[in-house]
Amino acid sequence: MKFFLDTANLNEIRDVASWGILDGVTTNPSLMARENMPFADLVKAIGEIVSGPISVECVSERAPDIIAEGRALAKAGPNIAVKIPITIEGLKATKVLSGEGIMVNTTLIFSSPQALLAAKAGAKFVSPFIGRLDDVGQDGMELIEEIVGMFENYAFPTEVIVASIRHPRHVVEAALIGADICTIPYAVMEKLVKHPLTDLGIERFLKDWGKVKK
Ligand code: G3P
Repeated sequence: MKFFLDTANLNEIRDVASWGILDGVTTNPSLMARENMPFADLVKAIGEIVSGPISVECVSERAPDIIAEGRALAKAGPNIAVKIPITIEGLKATKVLSGEGIMVNTTLIFSSPQALLAAKAGAKFVSPFIGRLDDVGQDGMELIEEIVGMFENYAFPTEVIVASIRHPRHVVEAALIGADICTIPYAVMEKLVKHPLTDLGIERFLKDWGKVKK
């Protein structure tokens, strides 16, 4: 499974990149808005840290505008994936941009048919938002299971990015299903490493090490 970091924060990206397990980054306008930096500078700075795919979102709504915006975003580097919300206009733009070799990450996926259409249009990634489904009382992980199953049935090369992750179990369940990628917020990334029994074990071993004859 590939691990992406779901953030536009440079300190978080630098930190997790130093752990040696970071495969890419996903951003969205809400994450960008939290950073005190001009958009283009931020995208460039992320690109200087991360060599894997970096998703950057289009905000245009009509296909010709999405296509123009996507082409402009993709100029920031060969590893830019243009994030496009799933709409009919978005599908049209996905077909064109994917045909030009630009990676498209179809975002705001909340149903299986949405993912199927994105794959047919040539999206490199689909991003189902599981936490937001859980929030409204649906089972987000069921959606991942269906999408992964559908893509396997037809050998679609589109990769599934499990997005809107809220806690470590989401990551484990996504891995058990065989989803390609989890995009994980920094706070959850830290929780993946931590366990109170590990901390306690280290503390005890260090204490006992002090008693070992040297
Ligand atoms: O990658 C999508 C993600 O940023 C959405 O997460 O927590 O806003 O539902 P959230």
